[in-house]
Amino acid sequence: MSSKPLVVRTIKGLRQFVQAVRKNGQTVGLVPTMGALHHGHLSLITEISKHVDVPIVSIFVNPTQFGEGEDFEIYPRDEQSDLQKLVGTGTALVFAPHASEMYPAGDATTVSVSGISDRFEGAERPGHFDGVATIVSKLLLQCLPDAAIFGEKDFQQLAVIRQFVRDLAIPVSIVGGPIIREADGLAASSRNAYLSKRGRAVAGQLNVLLKALAADVRGGNDISRAEKTASDALIDAGFEAVDYVAVVDPATLVPLTALNGIARVLAVARIDGVRLLDNMAIEAP
Ligand code: PAF
Repeated sequence: MSSKPLVVRTIKGLRQFVQAVRKNGQTVGLVPTMGALHHGHLSLITEISKHVDVPIVSIFVNPTQFGEGEDFEIYPRDEQSDLQKLVGTGTALVFAPHASEMYPAGDATTVSVSGISDRFEGAERPGHFDGVATIVSKLLLQCLPDAAIFGEKDFQQLAVIRQFVRDLAIPVSIVGGPIIREADGLAASSRNAYLSKRGRAVAGQLNVLLKALAADVRGGNDISRAEKTASDALIDAGFEAVDYVAVVDPATLVPLTALNGIARVLAVARIDGVRLLDNMAIEAP
């Protein structure tokens, strides 16, 4: 019977473990998480295990990526339940540092990525990507894995991470993990747990309507009209608000007015006050 993974809370313990793995001739993969693990996270472990010998999961609810009035205080934290979910996944180690290990007294460095961070989530949640880029830089430099994986559900986050890893020449390969969906298409997310029964019933429509938008655009319909149709349909379906629905270039996230090759539609709609993110590829026929 497999047991719960080993937990270390210090950078020193993490580095000692990684060194021992390397001495053994094996490669290391990092799966950064904020805990509240669900089947989307478990799929990231399966995926990274195709690239490396030894997966490590980090669990840290990073305060600097939450804005004022966001859910940092109430974000679900249950380490024992997370460790139980990791049994049998092949996770060798969990790095679960305290805040003082990641942000020691006197910490004064922020990683900020311009351009790709500015629109969409960056505009809706000022400072969010500075927090993400800073904590992910720290985790990558502390662990120095061969590869690290991030879910494509947070498509802009993945693009921001790819950008600073390239700019700072951090020697790690960044892997995108496919979006894991519930039966009705809702993308798996720790924040889905905040939804009421009614909200959860409405939530699946986000994916349904994005598929319709993708078909519309692939069929040659005008992109801005298709975005407006999808946005109106989300409100009709019962969402409280639509933060954005945008067809973008998948590499630069610059909004597109015409489909020439592969595009990505990004969307965020709110229900029960919860911001639900989704995205999907659109390929020109
Ligand atoms: O996607 C997340 O869970 C977080 O943004 C991450 C990458 C673990 C950084 O805190």
